[in-house]
Amino acid sequence: MADQPPNPIASDSLPARESGAWVLDKKVYVEKYLKIFTKGISNKWGGKLAYVDLFSGLGKNVIRETGEEVDGSPLLALSCDFGRYVFVDMPEVLATLRMRLRSHPKLAHISFVEGDCNVVIDEVLGLLPADHLTLAFIDPTGLQIRFNTIQRLVHNRKVDLLMTIQFGMGIQMNLPQYIKSQGAALTDFLGNSEWRKDVEEAGTVFQAGRRILDMYMAQLRSLGYRDSKDREMVRNDQNMLLYFVIMASRHELGEKFWREVTKIRPSGQRRLNLDSKT
Ligand SMILES: C[S@@+](CC[C@H](N)C(=O)[O-])C[C@H]1O[C@@H](n2cnc3c(N)ncnc32)[C@H](O)[C@@H]1O
Repeated sequence: MADQPPNPIASDSLPARESGAWVLDKKVYVEKYLKIFTKGISNKWGGKLAYVDLFSGLGKNVIRETGEEVDGSPLLALSCDFGRYVFVDMPEVLATLRMRLRSHPKLAHISFVEGDCNVVIDEVLGLLPADHLTLAFIDPTGLQIRFNTIQRLVHNRKVDLLMTIQFGMGIQMNLPQYIKSQGAALTDFLGNSEWRKDVEEAGTVFQAGRRILDMYMAQLRSLGYRDSKDREMVRNDQNMLLYFVIMASRHELGEKFWREVTKIRPSGQRRLNLDSKT
């Protein structure tokens, strides 16, 4: 395998994740949702709010074309009022995040958990107070999150889910190639292999991707989640779909907050239609 290019170094002299400009769109969705969620619900829960980031990253992103630094999800969450934070990622990534946050005023409220989130989920659960309302941000680079992990995370707990669902790489391929390379991961991701029947119905990978997303939402509904119809799409400079951003809650307030967040697109464009079809 070819060596990965080294990470760019941010202004705090620590490595950052190199990204396209689309990372700004993600930031808008995450930042707005975290703010509206913590402000809108903190009183009701007596401040007992927890945040878990199963794919934390390095804490900072640097936009490839411009060098602009963009705070990653852990920093965005730390600027909001949660009582407890749990950050999960691979050891080499988490070492940088730890270093980056070593003097953070909220350090005493943070736990770091190293490893594959599917494997360390029980440790994560042990760190999340059971009487807190938890917001989980799930932001993988592909299909790494197994549905079984989501089931364990939300079992007998109040957990809202904010997720990026990544089909971008797949959409560049043709369907048989995608199925060949991603089939097993897709089954783990969805928690069943029902998708196989569906994709045989053909269409483009993009259309199959949308149907897979519908299947995913159906799986979440089976865990008691409401389906907030607003599935935002993040595209790259060539207008190619990179990922969907979804929010799922068992409570109508979560849906209301997400509607608020998605009323205006990151570009400032007002949505015309709640269920985006473009
Ligand atoms: C897209 S980045 C996260 C970016 C971050 N949420 C942000 O907003 O800046 C995805 C991260 O997932 C991590 N990762 C990949 N597979 C993982 C797994 N199975 N468990 C935990 N982390 C994983 C990668 O090391 C990478 O840092």
